[in-house]
Amino acid sequence: MVGVEQKTIRIGMIGYQFMGKAHSHAYRDLPFYFDTPLKPELKVIVGRNEATVKEAQKKFGFEAYETDWRKVVERDDIDVIDIVTPNHTHVEIALAAIEAGKHVIIEKPLALTVEEAKRMYKAAKESGVKHMICHNYRFAPAIQFAKQLIDQGKIGRVFHYRANYLQDFIIDPEFPLVWRLQKDIAGSGALGDIGAHSLDLARFLIGEFTELTGTMETFIKERPLGEMSGGLSAKGNSDQMGEVTVDDAVAIIARFENGALGTFEATRFANGNRNKNKFEINGEKGSIRWDMENMNNLEVYLSDDEAGEQGFRLINCTEEVHPYAGAYWPAGHIIGYEHTFINLFDEFFRGIAEDYQPKPNFEDGVRNQILLEAIEKSAEERSWVKIGQEIE
Ligand SMILES: NC(=O)c1ccc[n+]([C@@H]2O[C@H](COP(=O)([O-])OP(=O)(O)OC[C@H]3O[C@@H](n4cnc5c(N)ncnc54)[C@H](O)[C@@H]3O)[C@@H](O)[C@H]2O)c1
Repeated sequence: MVGVEQKTIRIGMIGYQFMGKAHSHAYRDLPFYFDTPLKPELKVIVGRNEATVKEAQKKFGFEAYETDWRKVVERDDIDVIDIVTPNHTHVEIALAAIEAGKHVIIEKPLALTVEEAKRMYKAAKESGVKHMICHNYRFAPAIQFAKQLIDQGKIGRVFHYRANYLQDFIIDPEFPLVWRLQKDIAGSGALGDIGAHSLDLARFLIGEFTELTGTMETFIKERPLGEMSGGLSAKGNSDQMGEVTVDDAVAIIARFENGALGTFEATRFANGNRNKNKFEINGEKGSIRWDMENMNNLEVYLSDDEAGEQGFRLINCTEEVHPYAGAYWPAGHIIGYEHTFINLFDEFFRGIAEDYQPKPNFEDGVRNQILLEAIEKSAEERSWVKIGQEIE
């Protein structure tokens, strides 16, 4: 394991496509913007297809490539294993990495089931490695600032948390049956892919869930076979059709520990909405709104403003006082999606260097997985499901 005195930290990354690109970029840019205690060294990138992983190795700037992740996990010259592969691979790779004493950073959702997620959390906790899950939206400066406002009591008691995560990239019935549409690989559909982010933001901003009910729909039940080809694009590779085994859309009603009511919707069928990850929080003294498609802005309404001057104000969260914003550009010079990962990695490496457990981590991954499983159960049984706070 890496010591606090170490100035560089050596990365082995498993997977190299959409999130592989986002993470590689963040490693490279992190020391440029932040006075990071540990400078990432891109040692080895892993993929099963030699020709394409070699291409990624060159493009992303890794020293070497490998086609078997087990060889990388066992290497002495690797400190961190970064898991950016589809969800069904997470448990095996993470457990092997923890066993080998590596710090682990992993994409969401943590696993396919609560049972797997708990095993991963337990192993990580017992080994003492640092672990983090990439709920990157927490790290948008506007979100961190919203959290400060809520914690300072600016909107008072929270009544409503209302979130939608809307995409439309699979609306075409010809969009192939990629891993994201197969339950044995993805765990769930819109729920775990994008709804998981909304649930995490809600936990981060207003606290834990106590009970919920959900309903799910799969609009297109069969698709031609194919695979992801970078970002959210895909290519068909057969005339054969296969069954879609996950939800295309989910709607959720929830209650929170603080007494708030929550409503959530996650869908990949909201035509015209590319990545509309948004929420509104209504409290006794004000409201807060955010939308990922305008991620630098936070809309804030405060009911103690003078009569006649009341209304939502638009705060461009690019000032020195806004968390993380000062690391980048002068006020008003906006940042983007990729910066959420840079900020998250800053927290990860600080946790390793200063020996504290950064958040969100595998514990948050377990709590998120409990919500995902409860929503599926409630949709199946058409019932309400209680959410226990004990996760050991
Ligand atoms: N934080 C976010 O906003 C965000 C966004 C997209 C995806 N994700 C998560 O990131 C992870 C990866 O998603 P993606 O969109 O990058 O997927 P992708 O399909 O673009 O890339 C997956 C990568 O994993 C590799 N791979 C697949 N199966 C493998 C196996 N068995 N062994 C080794 N490598 C394997 C593929 O070759 C590819 O390089 C998923 O867990 C997903 O839920 C998170």
